[in-house]
Amino acid sequence: MAHGPTILGVLILSAASALTLAASTADTPADPPSSSAVRPGLTLEQYPPHGDAVRGREVYAQNCIGCHGPEGQGDGPAARWLNPIPRNFQQANFKFRSTPSGELPLLADVVHVVTCGLAGSSMPAFPLMAEGDRKAVAAWVLHLAEYGMLRGEVDYRLDDGDALEKILGDDWQEILDETLGDAYEDVWPVEVPQEPENDADSVAHGAELYRAQCVACHGAGGRGDGPSSYALRDWKDAEVVPRDFTTGVFRAGSTPRDLFMRMKTGLNGTPMPQISGSDDDLWALVHFIVSLQDPDTKEAPHPLSCAAHAKDAAR
Ligand code: HEC
Ligand code: HEC
Repeated sequence: MAHGPTILGVLILSAASALTLAASTADTPADPPSSSAVRPGLTLEQYPPHGDAVRGREVYAQNCIGCHGPEGQGDGPAARWLNPIPRNFQQANFKFRSTPSGELPLLADVVHVVTCGLAGSSMPAFPLMAEGDRKAVAAWVLHLAEYGMLRGEVDYRLDDGDALEKILGDDWQEILDETLGDAYEDVWPVEVPQEPENDADSVAHGAELYRAQCVACHGAGGRGDGPSSYALRDWKDAEVVPRDFTTGVFRAGSTPRDLFMRMKTGLNGTPMPQISGSDDDLWALVHFIVSLQDPDTKEAPHPLSCAAHAKDAAR
């Protein structure tokens, strides 16, 4: 019996060193770039949340921090393993919106992403989270985006030689009004018009537009393998791959309405542009890319609430 603990101890020790060895030799991806290092400037404490965002901060700490990081810079402990990497909310670049290109999303857009997740990425769906909590966490996400923009403005003024006391004192109200006023000025929902019939003419028209405008990135067969596809980078210089239309899996919903909205508004911060053209042109493109789906693929599983959502064509 006297040997029991010793043997156990050795076993635990060797298991631990084996683990250490495994960890040190494993192909660990590099730490994502983090700008949360201490430096003078606006801190998150100096821009406290109000309203729903106060509760949202707690919901965020419980559900989102592991990927999106303590201050929403996309640098949580799990981030290095993920591709695409989690969004840095402070950059205020949101891909999946119902607002014009380059603008912030509506609160409802963020709630939708939280509720339904982003298919084909590691962004989970939270359909069982109370609706109030989903709204609150979305408000916190927008607060982080506001903070990022304000921090940028503060940094700019510091570089210009202004004192931090003056910036956060006398100038602060003006900075708030201007920065946030500008940011929300054009945040309104883009209308999606009635979908015309998806017939052979529309698909043929879409194919023609597709050859001219999309092939370079999305490829002739829609597999995301066009000649330009290999060199694409997003605004953080991370690799980004055009969507493969044959899989039928789209990040932010695969209803015709969702696809129309993605083209009409573009994916901020990525090479996927806002597509110009008449409503009929955009619908024709939707009809064509839907026709590229491999008939053997199965529909991407959706949380129940999102399937209902899709049916209502609410987005
Ligand atoms: C397991 C990791 C993970 C967790 C947990 C996670 N996310 Fe994400 N999230 C991601 C990834 C990865 C992306 C980027 C996907 C992409 O670029 O297509 C993302 C993107 C987003 C976006 C960007 C939408 C846009 O339009 O660009 C929002 C908003 C978001 N997440 C909110 C949240 C919130 C709120 C929570 C917690 C309730 C959360 N996420 C939890 C991984 C995660
Ligand atoms: C310069 C390259 C480029 C061009 C041109 C381009 N795309 Fe994209 N597209 C992308 C990239 C990259 C993504 C994926 C971005 C991401 O996930 O961050 C994408 C994504 C998409 C999505 C996916 C939305 C989702 O929810 O998953 C659709 C739909 C789409 N493109 C349609 C088109 C159509 C139609 C055209 C032509 C009218 C077009 N794209 C032209 C690069 C491009």
